[in-house]
Amino acid sequence: MPDLALQAPFSEIRHSPATQNLCGIKQGFRTFVHLFEYMIYPIVALGNPVLKERAKEIDLRMPELPALIEDMFETMYQASGVGLAAPQIGKGIRLFVIDAEPMDEENLKGAKMVFINPLKIEENGTPWPYEEGCLSIPGIREEVKRPEKITLEYLDEKGEKHKKTFEGMLARVVQHEYDHLEGKLFIEYLSPFRKKLIQNKLNDILKGKAKADYPIRFALQTKR
Ligand code: NI
Repeated sequence: MPDLALQAPFSEIRHSPATQNLCGIKQGFRTFVHLFEYMIYPIVALGNPVLKERAKEIDLRMPELPALIEDMFETMYQASGVGLAAPQIGKGIRLFVIDAEPMDEENLKGAKMVFINPLKIEENGTPWPYEEGCLSIPGIREEVKRPEKITLEYLDEKGEKHKKTFEGMLARVVQHEYDHLEGKLFIEYLSPFRKKLIQNKLNDILKGKAKADYPIRFALQTKR
């Protein structure tokens, strides 16, 4: 397995205009700056087609992957999220990160993990309800039932392969993020009745009339 922690030559890392704006420096100094500076991506909101598509497998030789992973963690922390999937920053690739520690559950201590090219093997156990939210659907929290356990095969940030079963709240976070890679949002689990009750709020998000306390890109928001 290739070591994903190894950074590729830097001309290939983070060449997006936003990065250049952030640093305002020549690419040649990027490695140095990278030690203490991250890129915060805006979260794409409900209505963006990338959230409805099945995300594609990542080529592990993708040179910008290590930096992208770090940026996803920083973006997630800035938005006070416990999980973030690549489609939520507009990238249709099979990658998500979690750091569930802020949820204050004993079994979540140190649950900072990277999932590359995850594949669901099985889900089982009695479905249980929990009120979920999603950074891409600001202001909405609704109860969703999910099976107790999920088993995934995935690669970590070092390119090492794992097959693991997650339970309880950790399973919940993994299931929610995995769904993002399948183009599925938690509101799709709601009954037609519940969905109708929140439809106005969803419409506001679709129209870009909602608010979030983190950078967000609404589907109908024109680029500034
Ligand atoms: Ni979400």
